[in-house]
Amino acid sequence: MDLDYRWRAEVTDAELVKLTRSHGGAPEPGWWTRVRAHSLGWMTARVPELVGFANVAWDGADHAFLLDPKVRPDHQRLGIGAELVRRAAAESARAGCAWLHVDFEPHLRPFYFDACGFRPTDAGLIALG
Ligand SMILES: CC(C)(COP(=O)(O)OP(=O)(O)OC[C@H]1O[C@@H](n2cnc3c(N)ncnc32)[C@H](O)[C@@H]1OP(=O)(O)O)[C@@H](O)C(=O)NCCC(=O)NCCS
Repeated sequence: MDLDYRWRAEVTDAELVKLTRSHGGAPEPGWWTRVRAHSLGWMTARVPELVGFANVAWDGADHAFLLDPKVRPDHQRLGIGAELVRRAAAESARAGCAWLHVDFEPHLRPFYFDACGFRPTDAGLIALG
């Protein structure tokens, strides 16, 4: 399959709304316009329509945070998600980050631990509202 992977390439809010709806998510229109300003960078995968996306937020120093990886259902289980994460990690390292964090639901352990190479760590979470 001819896939075009890019770091920080143009992607519209409408494309992300469509991609998120495709896997059953409930996107808030305007989300990307707000979030983008806080992003270190993001990966897109196109065919040329957008079929994959992953965002990387950061603390301005060593820590990068992988957020919202998504692959259109008709393109899932083809290695696109793992490739998006691999490239996002490489770009984060190139930007000077030392660590890439992620959290996820238990059913995605095989994706993050086995396919993407994250290792388990202690982490914490407080629901703020
Ligand atoms: C999670 C997601 C991004 C994975 O993308 P993908 O392109 O299908 O993943 P890959 O093809 O790279 O998967 C590589 C391996 O990870 C594992 N894996 C992938 N998706 C999985 C899932 N839903 N459940 C369990 N394991 C999974 C499998 O071992 C897979 O290898 P296999 O296909 O040979 O069995 C995709 O399922 C998705 O967009 N889900 C909806 C949005 C979402 O939940 N995002 C994560 C937010 S934390």
